[in-house]
Amino acid sequence: MSSDDVTDLLETAYLDELETVMNYLTNAIVLDGVHAEEVKDSLEADVEEELEHARLLGNRLKQLGHSPPGSAAFEAGQSSLQPPEDTTDVESVIDGVLEAETDAHETYRALLEAAREANDPVTEDVAVTILADEEAHRTEFRGFKKEFPVDR
Ligand SMILES: [Fe+2]
Ligand SMILES: [Fe+2]
Repeated sequence: MSSDDVTDLLETAYLDELETVMNYLTNAIVLDGVHAEEVKDSLEADVEEELEHARLLGNRLKQLGHSPPGSAAFEAGQSSLQPPEDTTDVESVIDGVLEAETDAHETYRALLEAAREANDPVTEDVAVTILADEEAHRTEFRGFKKEFPVDR
């Protein structure tokens, strides 16, 4: 692992965070029904946190002599987080969030490893800080998931 790997992972993570902002914001707006309110409030709060993650990553890229990417570099990947056709299908959004948070978890673990091997403790610190937030998000949505029967 080299500093190039660190840069690539910072760029990937930056774009992933912005896609997450887009989909959490959309789902916080579209969901309806009695199960929706808590989930919407949580998504709304997470939008701010995910945006802050992108800001941390972009600033770290700048400090390393790179620029965070613009939208031309963007490729959508979060198919499971698209707004559901049935706007009361809160569970599908919860599942999408759990998948996105697990993906984020893997990206920040990889960033942590790459930064460690490249002897870049500042990026390591950024990765640990964000990883802790993503774990909290995942735990919260695992809790929401418990509201829904297992076999439907
Ligand atoms: Fe994030
Ligand atoms: Fe998150």
